[in-house]
Amino acid sequence: MTENRTQITPYEYMEYFMPDTANLVSMGADGKVNVMALLWKTIGQLWMIPTITVAVSPSRYTFELLTKGVPEFTLNIPSPKIVDSVNVTGSLSGRNLDKVKKAGIELIDGVKTKVPTIKGSLLSYECKIIHTCQSGKMASHHLFFGQILAAFASNDLIEK
Ligand SMILES: Cc1cc2nc3c(=O)[nH]c(=O)nc-3n(C[C@H](O)[C@H](O)[C@H](O)COP(=O)(O)O)c2cc1C
Repeated sequence: MTENRTQITPYEYMEYFMPDTANLVSMGADGKVNVMALLWKTIGQLWMIPTITVAVSPSRYTFELLTKGVPEFTLNIPSPKIVDSVNVTGSLSGRNLDKVKKAGIELIDGVKTKVPTIKGSLLSYECKIIHTCQSGKMASHHLFFGQILAAFASNDLIEK
């Protein structure tokens, strides 16, 4: 219980999922972890599978990791305690520095994924990429569809 969180089913506490910027964690083939701020996201059901879809621009280092590294990601909704991490993860690139270190982010090993989640998140999801496509006319971003393999909620949410 030192992680202060509980495993939940994918669609619980969804009211905390949508409004805020998330931290998306990805991993290179060499095991290097990177974290990127991400606002464009959905959660729902596709092809009878619980999914999170994220829109990532090809210019991001994260895009390189998602397409050439481990085909997984974790999505983490920061609690107010760690929300400042987004200032680092959304303005600097992991190409040039270790954002985990810079932002003082603490990682938790994935339960179902190689990619870790972030300690202190309100919600965390471990996802396996099952499909990708371009946004077409909407934006230069590509869409990554992740099957939700595990979901967690902070005990602070559960005890509210
Ligand atoms: C609040 C906020 C939300 C963002 N949302 C997205 C997003 O949904 N998709 C995206 O591709 N970039 C988004 N970005 C931009 C990336 O987080 C930013 O370019 C980051 O530095 C990329 O890091 P990387 O090169 O390490 O992947 C957002 C930035 C901020 C500050």
